[in-house]
Amino acid sequence: MMRARNIVFVFLVSLLVLEVFRVCSAYGDGDGDGDVAGLRLNFYAESCPNAEIIVKGIILSRVPTNPTLPAKLLRMHFHDCFVRGCDASVLLNAVNNVPAEKDSIPNASLSGFDVIDDIKTVIENKCPGVVSCADILALAARDAVSFPYISNKWEVLTGRRDGRVSLSSEVNANLPSPFSNFSTLWQLFSSKGLNLTDLVSLSGGHTIGVAHCATFSNRLYNFTGKGDADPSLNPIYAQFLRSQCPNPANSATTVELDPGSSKSFDKNYFNILLQNEGLLQSDAALLKDGNSFQLVERFSNSSDFFNAFATSMVKMGAIEVLTGYAGEIRKRCSVVNPTN
Ligand code: HEM
Ligand SMILES: *[C@@H]1O[C@H](CO)[C@@H](O)[C@H](O)[C@H]1NC(C)=O
Ligand SMILES: *[C@@H]1O[C@H](CO)[C@@H](O)[C@H](O)[C@H]1NC(C)=O
Ligand SMILES: *[C@@H]1O[C@H](CO)[C@@H](O)[C@H](O)[C@H]1NC(C)=O
Ligand SMILES: *[C@@H]1O[C@H](CO)[C@@H](O)[C@H](O)[C@H]1NC(C)=O
Ligand SMILES: *[C@@H]1O[C@H](CO)[C@@H](O)[C@H](O)[C@H]1NC(C)=O
Repeated sequence: MMRARNIVFVFLVSLLVLEVFRVCSAYGDGDGDGDVAGLRLNFYAESCPNAEIIVKGIILSRVPTNPTLPAKLLRMHFHDCFVRGCDASVLLNAVNNVPAEKDSIPNASLSGFDVIDDIKTVIENKCPGVVSCADILALAARDAVSFPYISNKWEVLTGRRDGRVSLSSEVNANLPSPFSNFSTLWQLFSSKGLNLTDLVSLSGGHTIGVAHCATFSNRLYNFTGKGDADPSLNPIYAQFLRSQCPNPANSATTVELDPGSSKSFDKNYFNILLQNEGLLQSDAALLKDGNSFQLVERFSNSSDFFNAFATSMVKMGAIEVLTGYAGEIRKRCSVVNPTN
């Protein structure tokens, strides 16, 4: 009897130790305090205890009337992190007519700025000058994608501070283009400290949302100069896309990135990739490298994608972040604080 109880006790303690180890190794730098690049869970626990609840409340109230919001905010967070790190530079307006990140071509369909501003206003009323726009964007993207809310789809570490610079001229060199081939994508992600698993899992962000004809129509009509479609595109799907983008040059039309399933955050993106129905050349490119192909297959027929995505989002959310005394806590997300 005594022995059985001891065994149960030892078993429970082992579980606890394993759990602590899992959390620390998922988010940690090895010293057990759970931080990544100076970020940590619940950074505002004391300075603004309701911050995360306010973000979640506003986002969950907005998504039902604005179902495109999850895709918009996820993409906005990605664009923020890839240009100058996750410092909310994507939210800044142009200054003195020098175009900002949001004035660049790839911004074309960014939106949701108003929602971030609304959240910021409510939070500033509660805790002035405490919560960064960069953290609000990271939390908002997570909460929107997690709708309808059951649990968080990934953890958001907080403690980012806001940058003071945003330049349109820096966007193209840092953001992958829809026309990028595999080696360009891989190099770009590596330069941000992300590896192949991150490239493939984060591309799975395309399980929601849409793309404009101009981002893929080069694949439809005269791809190799012989009046044909991209041979790596499923011919039936190519036919469908031509019907959607008959006049690609001046089309405001959009097509789902994950056909038939673009409203749910699932692993179907990887299934359609394997059927040669990746919409962008950058999606199709993930099949061109053997290791990448294997990851696409693994994510298509297991639930590994969801864990991998969660891990990669934490890494993406920590790219070149400003912490400590660097940067500032903006009062309004679209303009830097006045200097005096
Ligand atoms: C791998 C390199 C990537 C490239 C080349 C790329 C490119 C693009 C392009 C061209 C669009 C369509 C924009 C439009 O026409 O409106 C798009 C949409 C989108 N991207 Fe990516 N992307 C990449 C990675 C990512 C990552 C890492 C995420 C987030 C984790 C992401 C999330 C999204 C979302 C959610 C949309 C849909 C936006 C909407 O519906 O408005 N993308 N992407
Ligand atoms: C994106 O850039 C274009 C062209 O510079 C500009 O007209 C548009 O207003 C910008 N979009 C956003 C959301 O700022
Ligand atoms: C990929 O694209 C880059 C930039 O356009 C180009 O320099 C490179 O040769 C391409 N690589 C392959 C393997 O096609
Ligand atoms: C990428 O990094 C993660 C840890 O963040 C690791 O689990 C994974 O095995 C790495 N993938 C590759 C291909 O190196
Ligand atoms: C297709 O591309 C080739 C080579 O660039 C060009 O000569 C031809 O005129 C194009 N055809 C059409 C219909 O645009
Ligand atoms: C996943 O499915 C593909 C076929 O769709 C199969 O070839 C592959 O072996 C499967 N991989 C795993 C890890 O089950």
